[in-house]
Amino acid sequence: MVLVAPSILSANFAQLGEDCQRLEQAGADWLHVDVMDGHFVPNLTIGPPVVRDIRRISHLLFDVHLMIEKPESLIPAFIDAGADLITVHAEACSHLHRIIHMIKNAGIKAGVALNPATSLTAVENILTDLDLVLIMSVNPGFGGQQFIPSSLDKIRRLKQMIRTCANPVWLQVDGGINREWSKAVVEAGADVLVAGSYLFSAENLELTIKQMKQLPG
Ligand code: DX5
Ligand code: ZN
Repeated sequence: MVLVAPSILSANFAQLGEDCQRLEQAGADWLHVDVMDGHFVPNLTIGPPVVRDIRRISHLLFDVHLMIEKPESLIPAFIDAGADLITVHAEACSHLHRIIHMIKNAGIKAGVALNPATSLTAVENILTDLDLVLIMSVNPGFGGQQFIPSSLDKIRRLKQMIRTCANPVWLQVDGGINREWSKAVVEAGADVLVAGSYLFSAENLELTIKQMKQLPG
């Protein structure tokens, strides 16, 4: 079963509530919230108050992708705002194990994201503590970039690692996903697909989400 997590980074922020409801009605599984701080990545997006407000109008799982330095300082605020899953970047954490347990001890799910240049060894020793590993298939910071093809091999290798793990771990892929890359990443072993620009430019959102899940239209 493939899950689709639309990235609201490509939404129209002047009508964010309506856009979130439209995604839910069209069959989205999760809502992917891209949080950027202008330091870890060269872009700035949204914070906990926005998450709190859209939480009130959505039933979807809130998948918060923190592209920020010192994530430990904002994790409590995102948990209070209604995050169900928080993913931090391995590159942004000096004490990744501590941060993962800070998230899990609050009773929500925890993930680790890896930039394209970061090796899978960054998660090897903490895989049993994780609910999700996010393979970035673009350099984080912006929507609408091209998928980096070498991500496919990384996804296959991560899938092998996850197969030997006693606990279930979602394999999420984020960046440059469209219909063709959806098929390729699912074949390589992805369980959760993030897509922003592709979904927000779709003429038929419901059909596009079905196609991403590799279901008949
Ligand atoms: C990139 C973000 C992604 C991105 C996805 O920094 O983490 O979630 O917005 O957008 P598309 O699908 O347009 O690459
Ligand atoms: Zn993201």
